[in-house]
Amino acid sequence: MDSRLGHNLISLKTIDSTNLYCVRNIQSLPSGTVVVAESQTAGRGRNGRCWHSPKGNNLYASIIIHVHPTSQLIMFISQAVSLAVYSSIIDFDISDVWIKWPNDIYVNQFKMAGILSECHSLQTGTQAIIIGVGVNLNMQQNDLNQIDKPAISLGGILKKEISVNHFLQQVIDQLDEIFHEIESSGADRVYKLWKSASPIIGKKVNIFTNSNEKVAGTVVDLAYDGGILIQLTSGKKSKFLAGDVSLALDD
Ligand code: BTN
Repeated sequence: MDSRLGHNLISLKTIDSTNLYCVRNIQSLPSGTVVVAESQTAGRGRNGRCWHSPKGNNLYASIIIHVHPTSQLIMFISQAVSLAVYSSIIDFDISDVWIKWPNDIYVNQFKMAGILSECHSLQTGTQAIIIGVGVNLNMQQNDLNQIDKPAISLGGILKKEISVNHFLQQVIDQLDEIFHEIESSGADRVYKLWKSASPIIGKKVNIFTNSNEKVAGTVVDLAYDGGILIQLTSGKKSKFLAGDVSLALDD
């Protein structure tokens, strides 16, 4: 893995989606590339949803990481990025920040950030992971109201303007540290940190599959690959992967 993050920084005014920009240029963009835009006209969220991306000093960025196809890191990268975003928000002394499985960042019951990862094969045989990060930094209340779930912005909580460049640099620095730790000592500690930031074990949840099936159960564990282990009401245990389902807390 080449983790010199941000050595190739592409700043765009407006684009359909920073993830799509990366997909279109994936064969030529080096590992560690960061693409950031002031606004997106077709911002994409998980499970085919859209990501409301008005101009207004929020973070819309995609990071490209090249990974060997057999590397265990492929399945852990999204968790590592969510931990980096989570830590960058915590650094502002905000309380009640948590990761909602798989990788959404919430403050209390309000969503502040989301992550969308996609994997592409390069002609060289290497895998390129594109990790899209959207963070509501200075989103205006009327824009927050247009989001389909309760949402909040960091600047709104702190009652001040947050610098997008500064926040992006914080995320890149956190991620650099996480990657170096994984390279030198393995992912155990980072996995435990991600898991402890996601207080969901023991909670009753509803899982919605891509074919709109609803499955109810209790969370038993979160796996290293980002999967969630659920004890179904039948008593059977089942593991679901982030790409295949969405989750609602049953409270
Ligand atoms: C989600 O929570 O549904 C994931 C949202 C990911 C949004 C970011 S914004 C930058 C990047 N470009 C996109 O089109 N989506 C991601």
